[in-house]
Amino acid sequence: MAIPNLPEEYDQLDQWTTLMMLYNSALKEVQTRVNILSDEFQHINHYNPIEHVKARIKTPESIVKKLKRLGFEATIDNMYRELHDIAGIRIVCSFTSDIYYLADAISRQNDVEVLMVKDYIANPKPNGYRSYHMVISVPIYLSSGQVEMKVEIQIRTIAMDFWASLEHKIQYKFEGAAPEHMRESLKECADMAAVLDERMLALNESLQREEKKV
Ligand code: GTP
Ligand code: MG
Repeated sequence: MAIPNLPEEYDQLDQWTTLMMLYNSALKEVQTRVNILSDEFQHINHYNPIEHVKARIKTPESIVKKLKRLGFEATIDNMYRELHDIAGIRIVCSFTSDIYYLADAISRQNDVEVLMVKDYIANPKPNGYRSYHMVISVPIYLSSGQVEMKVEIQIRTIAMDFWASLEHKIQYKFEGAAPEHMRESLKECADMAAVLDERMLALNESLQREEKKV
């Protein structure tokens, strides 16, 4: 199998189950790191930067579909090499500043390698989509070796998440071709959500300053 450093005894095991076990481990690893950062943040700043965290493994159907779309055969090697979102974790934060705080803290960890960053907050998509995307690779420590696994991390505010959920539902319903008036309305909502995030952040910063005075 294409996974570098995988111990020899894995040659005898089912490759699909091995890969799924490794992606599951990668999700647990990242979730724990995020939870620790959140606990520490709360300890220092007295508020929870994270609203909720969702982790998911891509379904076999959508793995095959994506490989096909990219022009690859559906093999275990191609899954490991070509796809970066088999393991995905979505972190929903309270404020925009929390997004960058978490992204930076994760990126700085010595054994984490940042493979890709797409900052759709600094550069929103034309439809209004905002979120911070990062693909990292983390080591999984096995009994007799260590392997690197990729995890896609999406970090967004509650407002961005609210918007993305509805936009996804609408695009799904219209199979990616939502009527013009709905797309326009979605774009307006995305911009309003961005203004809301800015104002909520400003209010929270004022609150934080007041709390530091006492
Ligand atoms: P995928 O093939 O969909 O994984 O896209 P990609 O590899 O080009 O990566 P990108 O970082 O642009 O998007 C990855 C994921 O972000 C998607 O699978 C969605 O979960 C989310 N996403 C990206 N763009 C949009 C959008 O316009 N609307 C919504 N609702 N979600 C989006
Ligand atoms: Mg994806």
